[in-house]
Amino acid sequence: MSLVKGLECRECHHQYPTSAIHVCEFCFGPLEVIYDYESIKKEISREKILSREANMWRYKELLPLDGEPTVGTQVGYTPLVKADNLAKALGVKELYIKNDAVNYPTLSFKDRVVSVAISKAKEFGFKTVGCASTGNLANSVAAHAASAGLESFIFIPHDLEQGKVLGTLVFGTNLVGIRGTYDEVNRLCSEIAAKYKWAFVNINIRPFYAEGSKAMGYEIVEQLNWKTPQHVVSPMAGGSLITKLWKSFNEMVKVGLIEKNTAKIYGAQATGCSPITTAVKNGWDLFKPQQPDTICKSLAIGNPADGFYAARVMHESGGWGEDINDEEIVDAMKLLAETEGIFTETAGGVTVGVAKKLIEQGRIPKNERIVLCITGNGLKTMEVLVGKCGDPVTINAKIREFDEVYQKLHH
Ligand SMILES: Cc1ncc(COP(=O)(O)O)c(C=O)c1O
Ligand SMILES: [Zn+2]
Repeated sequence: MSLVKGLECRECHHQYPTSAIHVCEFCFGPLEVIYDYESIKKEISREKILSREANMWRYKELLPLDGEPTVGTQVGYTPLVKADNLAKALGVKELYIKNDAVNYPTLSFKDRVVSVAISKAKEFGFKTVGCASTGNLANSVAAHAASAGLESFIFIPHDLEQGKVLGTLVFGTNLVGIRGTYDEVNRLCSEIAAKYKWAFVNINIRPFYAEGSKAMGYEIVEQLNWKTPQHVVSPMAGGSLITKLWKSFNEMVKVGLIEKNTAKIYGAQATGCSPITTAVKNGWDLFKPQQPDTICKSLAIGNPADGFYAARVMHESGGWGEDINDEEIVDAMKLLAETEGIFTETAGGVTVGVAKKLIEQGRIPKNERIVLCITGNGLKTMEVLVGKCGDPVTINAKIREFDEVYQKLHH
């Protein structure tokens, strides 16, 4: 028996049976997966979860499949690192990094959404999958489609980083670069999805896909010994992840895994593409779409599908939104690497740099439990560090030459 009740419009609350749809027929609102929480409450327990393998599917009752997962069965359960060195540098007491930079298999939190999306696409009977992507989703869809033996068509802005492009092509997918922004890629993909009847993970099966992000929230709570953090900083592109973190904490209360949700959620963007944080900081109800201009290409979505709902989560939870410029992004990537030995991509730089700014502003207090969501890996965005970390010293293989170098480096 499935624990999913179906889909519901976020706006008019009209309900639909489970199928590959994503917008409401009546009001064009986005659809959301709804569950039978009373039944889940009877099925799920901390003991049951702890007895299962260390991957995101230990929370399968709260993920929207009818059967067992068939794709990405080893995704998730990434480390929650107690970041004492970074805490000291930022002047706070209790800080953790949820490190999805080492998610399996493609080193970003997108593996979570893709394992749900492609497992669901298979349940629906699709033979071809696709996505519109700023890079990480492309890597993950290509990898999971390869392992599932499905054909894939992947669409990206043509000027992404090498790591994102090669890290997609290597899986033998059909990769199409579009001369345009992500928003143009996304619009084209909506047309293609309708015409070719493929499963575009973040378009026509978006309600199911997006649910995968919740696993990051469940794991954080479990790893904090069944407590929510008090402050969570999350990067935002389309704005989906942040809404699902909030949903995950609230669901854990609903199904009796924890007593209360104490989390305030803070959204982070690059100033060069900050439609959501600009709306939050100005108290606007609606965001204004932007033309992205930032080194943080993974977060460069100027017209975010879930932007409105992301802003609402920050408001409802008592959090806030903030953005930082490109120079601050690079500085923050280096700060995380130098203090914690964690190499994140530009999006992680945005998260760490925004957290620093919010702490300096006094918006995040210094003596409470803070979690930073690090969602992607630095090896994929090496370009931004060229010339920013110094150069290696090159010498001949002679001890005398090293002695000289040592004197210089050591003093
Ligand atoms: C590394 C990374 N972090 C965060 C995000 C933001 O996710 P969302 O679109 O759900 O806001 C993305 C999206 O592409 C990403 O690639
Ligand atoms: Zn509706």
